[in-house]
Amino acid sequence: MCGIIAITTSSKANVSKMITTSLKKLEYRGYDSVGIATINNGKVEMLKDVGTIDKVNKRLSLENLQGTIGIGHTRWATHGAISRENAHPHSDCTGNIIVVHNGIIENYLELRNTLQENGHNFSSETDSEVIAHLMEEELKQFNQNLSMINAFKRVLTKIEGTYAITLIHSGEPDTIFLARKDSPLVIGVREDTKFAASDIPAFLEYTKKVIVLKNGEIATLTPQAVYIEKNGFRVQPKPVIISWTAESAQKSGYPHFMLKEIHEQPIALKNTLNTNPAEIMKASNKILEAERIIFLACGTSYHAGLTGYYQFQRILGKKPLYKVIASEYETYSHLIDEDTLIIAISQSGETLDVMKGLTPARKLGASIVSVVNVIDSSIPRYSHISLYTKAGPEIGVAATKTHTAQVALLARLALQVEHDIGLMSATEFTHIIEDLNTLTPQITRLIINQNEFKAKQLASKITNQNHAYFLARGYNMPIALEGALKLKEISYIHAEAFPAGESKHGPIAIVEPDFPVIMIAPNDWTAQKMLSNTEEMRARGAYIISVTEQDHRIIKRSDYSFILPEVTIPLLRPITHILPLQMLAYYTAVQRGFDPDKPKNLAKTVTVE
Ligand code: AGP
Repeated sequence: MCGIIAITTSSKANVSKMITTSLKKLEYRGYDSVGIATINNGKVEMLKDVGTIDKVNKRLSLENLQGTIGIGHTRWATHGAISRENAHPHSDCTGNIIVVHNGIIENYLELRNTLQENGHNFSSETDSEVIAHLMEEELKQFNQNLSMINAFKRVLTKIEGTYAITLIHSGEPDTIFLARKDSPLVIGVREDTKFAASDIPAFLEYTKKVIVLKNGEIATLTPQAVYIEKNGFRVQPKPVIISWTAESAQKSGYPHFMLKEIHEQPIALKNTLNTNPAEIMKASNKILEAERIIFLACGTSYHAGLTGYYQFQRILGKKPLYKVIASEYETYSHLIDEDTLIIAISQSGETLDVMKGLTPARKLGASIVSVVNVIDSSIPRYSHISLYTKAGPEIGVAATKTHTAQVALLARLALQVEHDIGLMSATEFTHIIEDLNTLTPQITRLIINQNEFKAKQLASKITNQNHAYFLARGYNMPIALEGALKLKEISYIHAEAFPAGESKHGPIAIVEPDFPVIMIAPNDWTAQKMLSNTEEMRARGAYIISVTEQDHRIIKRSDYSFILPEVTIPLLRPITHILPLQMLAYYTAVQRGFDPDKPKNLAKTVTVE
């Protein structure tokens, strides 16, 4: 997720200052590098570098760029390291075409190869740069007899993937070209100035008159006019007046980043599963070569790692696997040698407890595969292979979209290993990957839409409780652990997760009437025993909340049920079953009067021991 802004004006305003101010409002969308380009007297001026907006502006004086049209970008790296070369904007070979892009171009490698064969020189390793060269190629092929808008439309027919694009050309120094597919792009309208941005906060201080560009629409902006078309037909713009404050606009109208990020999970999963198969295959080889495997992580990432641990336990038979909370690393350090593989999971890529394990492990010859959300963070730099979740920046301290993205990536890796050791035919593998990639975002969106109101209703029933149990069995335990952590860390209700079979060995002693017990009970081999555990809790008056897949036996014995669509890929259960619990934790925290984005005593990235 990156931040885009483009402005064209006939006023005397300093465009680069407006762009810099707008980028600051978009920094929550990405902040590893930033750049601005303007057109001044028919010539392009561009400045960009690694770092936050304030740092780069101080270093390069971004606001001194001249011109009445410009585009800016604050990056969240998904393709290519964090570097000046990879910072946007990007240009074509001539330097006359400038583009910024948010999204993922799935066919960028083949486009890049073809363009290089046609003599184009690339200055970055990003997927986005191909857009500028494609535009140059189109104009060149028609000896500049092709209108800019038609060249732009031809470029879009060649791109596969998701995009929000704004492009300017020194040959049309007052026009911004824009298009969107699955990545957001909104237009701000003022009499003498037009804006395009990833999100409304970027220009809210300049105008509240907004046109939301829809999927598949293409537009051009000049200081006086907005032109929109779709499939060759003119679209009449429908401006709306936004009443949000700037801060609420950063949350796209959601009351908190956490709720926004819960709702972003379908696109985060879609982007994450659109991963580079070569990297997955390399990681699979590392797993098969290793004599033992250690899953190493903390908190919510540890719970994601647990889903991987259980999946690989099912596939790898007798190979020794270990699940290690990173701060407990020393307990397992005797296992580390050149035949050990560590799979380190961390959304921030900076958690010190994990780094404290990787540093010695590296010296002892261990191989390291990491699953990380932040490109170029510390943990990938210690890893032989880094698999990236593409969930975008996660602002809420309580991890949600990065967790389900980690689970999905580990599931994808498990399927690769299952195929590579011959437990799955090539045809079965192709089909299940297709299903994983299409089903995961769809079922996630369905479950969130079907269960959000129920979660809000249920929250009011547990808001006054001080304790809660989350019970599961077998490889559903990570769901219970994560559900308990979510409720605990943002609503401050003391929530505990343990295997349901353990209840009678002690924990059931504190259960009394109305004590909330959440039963994770999918339609799998654990269902019958979870039913019995439900009965023993009901017998003590517990308030039973079940998360289940249409199992009417447990629904009948529950005071409240989240009824989920049954999954055809069991690997998806840690994703489908955690969604209602994320929302339950969120609404419980809000109803208890707390800010879920900033839970007390917690930080988003834990860089202390
Ligand atoms: C997540 O909800 C928690 N805030 C926390 O447990 C977090 O998962 C843990 O600190 C690990 O962080 P990482 O994924 O950045 O390594």
